[in-house]
Amino acid sequence: MKKGLRLFSMLFVAIMTVLLISACSSGGEVSVGIVLPTKDEPRWVQDEERFKEALEDSDYTTEILFSQGSSAKEKENIETLINKGIDVLIVAPHDAGAAGAGVELAKEEGITVISYDRLITDTDAVDYYVTFDSIAVGEAQGQYLIDNAEGTGNPLYLYAGAASDNNAFLFFEGAWNVLQPKIADGTFVIANSSEAEALQDKAELTRDELGKILGQVTTEWDPNEAKNKAQTHLTAVGADLKGDVSILAPNDGTARSIADVFASDGEVTNYVVTGQDAEKASIQYVIDGKQSMTVFKDVRTLVEDAMGMAVDVLDGDTPETTGSYDNGSIDVKAKQTDVIVVDQENVQSELIDSGYYEADEFEGLD
Ligand code: BGC
Repeated sequence: MKKGLRLFSMLFVAIMTVLLISACSSGGEVSVGIVLPTKDEPRWVQDEERFKEALEDSDYTTEILFSQGSSAKEKENIETLINKGIDVLIVAPHDAGAAGAGVELAKEEGITVISYDRLITDTDAVDYYVTFDSIAVGEAQGQYLIDNAEGTGNPLYLYAGAASDNNAFLFFEGAWNVLQPKIADGTFVIANSSEAEALQDKAELTRDELGKILGQVTTEWDPNEAKNKAQTHLTAVGADLKGDVSILAPNDGTARSIADVFASDGEVTNYVVTGQDAEKASIQYVIDGKQSMTVFKDVRTLVEDAMGMAVDVLDGDTPETTGSYDNGSIDVKAKQTDVIVVDQENVQSELIDSGYYEADEFEGLD
């Protein structure tokens, strides 16, 4: 009798499991859709990995799609996820403005939209924004150049991200906040941007003014474009703008290719170059003394914040926010995370001892 009961209950559980699985797979199966800009940059592959780690034990189903640097693909991805019944959409837009069309479709379906790392602009169809403090990223890069420059007349090479990314403006604005007074007092001489030179006495730049400089020194977030620009700049300048130089590079991918160009110029005796993202290849560059610093943005925190918000929404709670960002249409409630400067001095403590990376992923760590 007891045996029969056990068999019956085992059968019952098995049937219920089958029923549950088939219910899940017939529509409404994905609760949270995640759309990332491109697989071609390690930064976003890092985000994918960290999302997967964070979701291992989650009860909610998620799907991550990449837009491969195309706004059309991004919109298609959003449509795919809407059709899978998502309740929350997390998007790091390829192009801030163009992403509006996709998230508006999601909003029409009652989906909660979270802008991830990059702000989606000029639409009211964004509910929340999780981000790092991007002004602080630029300030940290600029300050590093200041702290490592000696005397006056140091040639300063400026590079920026893509103008289609709101962050590129914030990073440059942050850098300008600290560098401008040091350009005005003669510590630095701008080497590669007539637009920045024309504005060098202005402490605060308008969006249009920033846009003019970005138009001249953008890397489009593309290491090849960064390399071409750096080569063009070094070909155009005389020996007086070489020697010991300072380079504002917006992120790690572009920093490595700009650094390679400067390293191969016989008239450049020393260069200090910034970066951001703590990409593995750049951590090796920092260890090898080929890249001076990177700004470490702990993607684990950003993922945790984004998923925390998503789960709050799914549970019917209101996510906690710490401020807001004007996206040109509305003030988007935001949660912001701090950043950490990493160079040879603290690479071990910040990235290895903290468990972010494994020591054996690098060579030459002491
Ligand atoms: C991100 C950076 C990244 C860059 C290029 C920015 O919006 O904040 O971490 O390096 O885009 O993908």
